[in-house]
Amino acid sequence: MPQVFIKTYGCQMNERDSEQVAAMFLSAGYELADSPERADVVLINTCSVREKAELKALGKMGILCAQQAARPWVVFGFMGCMSQSKGKELFREVPRLDIVTGTRQYHNVFSLCHRLLLQRLAAASAEPRRRGAHICEVGEEAGFQNQIRDHLPTRGGCTAFVSIMQGCEMRCSYCIVPHTRGRECSRPAADILHEARELVANGVKEITLLGQIVNRYGKDEPIINGRGAFVRLLEQLHEIDGLLRIRFTSPHPIGFRQDLVQAYTYLPKLCSHIHFPMQSGSDRILQLMRRPYKNEKYLSLCEAMREARPDLAITTDIIVGFPGETDEDYLQTKAAVERIQFDNAFIFQYSPRRDTPAALMDDQICLRVKEERNHDLLETVNRIATARNQALVGTDQLILVEGPSKTNAQRMQGRSSQNKPIIIMKGAAAAGQLLPVRITECTGFTLYGEVQ
Ligand code: SAH
Ligand code: SF4
Ligand code: F3S
Repeated sequence: MPQVFIKTYGCQMNERDSEQVAAMFLSAGYELADSPERADVVLINTCSVREKAELKALGKMGILCAQQAARPWVVFGFMGCMSQSKGKELFREVPRLDIVTGTRQYHNVFSLCHRLLLQRLAAASAEPRRRGAHICEVGEEAGFQNQIRDHLPTRGGCTAFVSIMQGCEMRCSYCIVPHTRGRECSRPAADILHEARELVANGVKEITLLGQIVNRYGKDEPIINGRGAFVRLLEQLHEIDGLLRIRFTSPHPIGFRQDLVQAYTYLPKLCSHIHFPMQSGSDRILQLMRRPYKNEKYLSLCEAMREARPDLAITTDIIVGFPGETDEDYLQTKAAVERIQFDNAFIFQYSPRRDTPAALMDDQICLRVKEERNHDLLETVNRIATARNQALVGTDQLILVEGPSKTNAQRMQGRSSQNKPIIIMKGAAAAGQLLPVRITECTGFTLYGEVQ
């Protein structure tokens, strides 16, 4: 049986796309390889959002190609965002590379790889130092967004990602995603509901809806009874018996309407956590970032959601060191962090990306200042996050048990509605159960509890 190895970098969207590719290989009789050494097809799903992510994937592919020097038939491929933005250029960087496929080509990866592998296995003289086949597919095909729908039967877990839209048309001045993921395309609601029902029939209890700007799902559809297409989709999913929890990521202040704020009051399956990227607390920087709203709008949306759902946990993304960011701008970001009291925040140092306007702006910030701001903000974020976690000690939380703890196989781990990982110290628990747990202890980001 041929084996395929897939390594994934980047966001949940990429994880989901990799899962689709893996499912296609499995249904054709391939096995998933745990390690690359025995694989006949080696794929890396790439991210371009920061330079570091690209360098990691390139370095990894170089190592994998070198490891397989004695197995000339092995097919090597790059998928995803870096493939989309760099295309054929990647063959110069990794000569042994065979296939480059973009973000609208995931459904074709299997057949491209399989055909090449068969050709090579049939060829009598497989040269020991074969150059790559250099096949590059980065175009778009109509309906590609409807092709990310198969799940891995092997996982059989209780949570699943469901891709509901692809692409982004916002053109934030720092971001490469609009180039790598193209225009926005939503899937039909009927397909999404069908997929969710099947997942639930197979034991899934929680789904996370994925989209670059997930709340712009169905943005061209009419608003009916004050509800847009995204909230209508949430309502329909909410009716599925056996589905216990619904999450989504990531929303954007543009197109975030009152109907979504209100959804937190009447959709109890909607979890008490939102990952809501803020990027900056300074209006001047938001404008340079081409984020078309004021920080006050972002902050008041957070506050309105907390009013609708008092225990809502809010996490965010923040960029420090955007071109032209002064101490004053940075302090405004810090003040916004203090005002919202985030449960956690991912802080990114601005990384110039090719073909984006911010990379050409004057007044790029030096590495030392980026690092200082990163470090300083991280301290604030961690202090607030720890205090918020500490405040949960003594409370009861419903947790969905996901399986053995990653650090101690004797213990089980689950997640609260607020998306906090909780380790169960006492009481019986099986994966897939929704159980009341009393929080007994907290060490920074880890919470411990006892089944009630
Ligand atoms: N679609 C999501 C973000 C996807 S990218 C959204 O807009 O909500 C994930 C995060 O990477 C962004 O929120 C941003 O904080 C960060 N990011 C994007 N481009 C970046 C860059 N050039 N340098 C540093 N961080 C960046
Ligand atoms: Fe990038 Fe902005 Fe689109 Fe998010 S909304 S993916 S940050 S361009
Ligand atoms: Fe990275 Fe592409 Fe996701 S650039 S963050 S993998 S959309």
